[in-house]
Amino acid sequence: METSSIAETRQWRQLIDLAESQGRADFRPLLGPDRASRYQLSAAGLYLDYSRNLVSDEILAGLLALAENSSLAGHRESMFRGEAINVSEQRPALHTALRAAAEDLEADGLGELAGEIESRLGRIKAISASIRAGQWPGATGKPIRDVVNLGIGGSDLGPKLACEALKEYAHKEVRCHFLSNVDGEPIRSTLAGLDPETTLVIVSSKSFTTSETLLNAHTAAAWFRERLGLENPFASPHFIGVTAAPGKAMRTGIPREQLLEFGEWVGGRYSLWSPIGLSIAIRIGFEHFSAMLAGARNMDRHFRTAPAARNMPVIMALLGVWYASFLKAESHAVIPYCERLGQLPPYLQQLDMESNGKSVTLAGEAVAGATGTIVWGQTGTNGQHSFFQLLHQGTHLIPVDFIGVAEDRLSAPRHHRALLANLVAQSAALMMGRQSAELPPWRRHAGNRPSNVLLLESLTPESFGALIALYEHKVFVQGSLWRINSFDQWGVELGKQLANALLAAGPELETLDAASVNLLKRLGW
Ligand code: F6P
Repeated sequence: METSSIAETRQWRQLIDLAESQGRADFRPLLGPDRASRYQLSAAGLYLDYSRNLVSDEILAGLLALAENSSLAGHRESMFRGEAINVSEQRPALHTALRAAAEDLEADGLGELAGEIESRLGRIKAISASIRAGQWPGATGKPIRDVVNLGIGGSDLGPKLACEALKEYAHKEVRCHFLSNVDGEPIRSTLAGLDPETTLVIVSSKSFTTSETLLNAHTAAAWFRERLGLENPFASPHFIGVTAAPGKAMRTGIPREQLLEFGEWVGGRYSLWSPIGLSIAIRIGFEHFSAMLAGARNMDRHFRTAPAARNMPVIMALLGVWYASFLKAESHAVIPYCERLGQLPPYLQQLDMESNGKSVTLAGEAVAGATGTIVWGQTGTNGQHSFFQLLHQGTHLIPVDFIGVAEDRLSAPRHHRALLANLVAQSAALMMGRQSAELPPWRRHAGNRPSNVLLLESLTPESFGALIALYEHKVFVQGSLWRINSFDQWGVELGKQLANALLAAGPELETLDAASVNLLKRLGW
């Protein structure tokens, strides 16, 4: 893959010119029926209307030329074929293999992975089925009724999002709880409401070195020890470990037969498809977990084969690059009009910001301009009554993704109609605005504010899988165009190291900066 700066290319310079000449133009006159019918796409059961963006045909053509003259197509093939595209860690990024059909893996020269992936899926299936059937007894013989996933970042956000999003498919008796923070209150109050005899803890950590997860695991073990008199709770049926570092997991006392392993080639924020998704399979059943993988696979196939101009992740990524790199937008809002997708914005924050929040290229040089995007949001209509004021009349350029579900069996028709009316109205209001001269300035809406509308026919495991894969690939395309490594996260290390050093070494305050010393003294360190 190319490592030089994309900003040196002719296509990039042309886009700079287009941004100067057209970027802040009023795009509303272009929004006729012709554009509404052309600026839409369907893929893997998802529908995207991207007509309300600040782009003309010429700008879109320029963005597509940028993609076509970049190493994107080759980079995408390298990812699917398992080449070590995560260059700083010398690893592939093969989350797509976790949901690929065996024949696709074979065709990509990854046949040897097929057996490994299948046997891991087999273990997810067997464990989830026995817990759901009440055939996973705890130490006192009672069946498990509460599953507590201990994990953070990618070992928490994906499973938590999926379990909530797919609650329609949830087991009636087995509940899942998610604890991530090292803050001791959530684990205290959650465990206080549970019966240790019927509780299973899944310690989910790719590295098995994450301090928050390990501290929570030891706190949970102490709870079992105290309440059930277990000498080594980690070795009891109340603990399962999920990790890419089985040796480290076994050092805590979890026996190998209670471990589910996955490869180093699965990035943490891409791991819900791996055994890290065990809690999802327990909650919705393996059949629905498999359907989620199938939905993601449909999106993978679309991403890999559709021409750039009809490729949903590519189009969404190019629009994102247009806003971030050329129109200097700093953030991007994601507003699902579905309360069950309330965890999507925090999930996408890790996916996008941990992947593309980078300031050096693959060649180790400073990037030419902005990378990454500040992703934020919450569900509509709630956001309408808090931060939408700024979207409508504030001074920032903030593109929005509105996400809707056409049919919702869990909602009542009257509610659902109202929800969808709000989604459509907000996208229209942002773009069309209201500019009557009779209105006082504070009541005018400038309009010309961009958004995508993304629709799922219904919120099923398949459409959910496709939605997550769509955003994974969008992030990949943006990282590829910016020529950064979207698969490492070295930026999170320094803070972790300092905290660990503080905890381990105690009050070596003289090595710290003066502000930290003040703070620690104030905290009674
Ligand atoms: O600190 C960031 C990070 O490494 C994320 O990338 C990851 O998802 C999270 O921590 C949890 O890591 P682990 O699964 O190894 O506990």
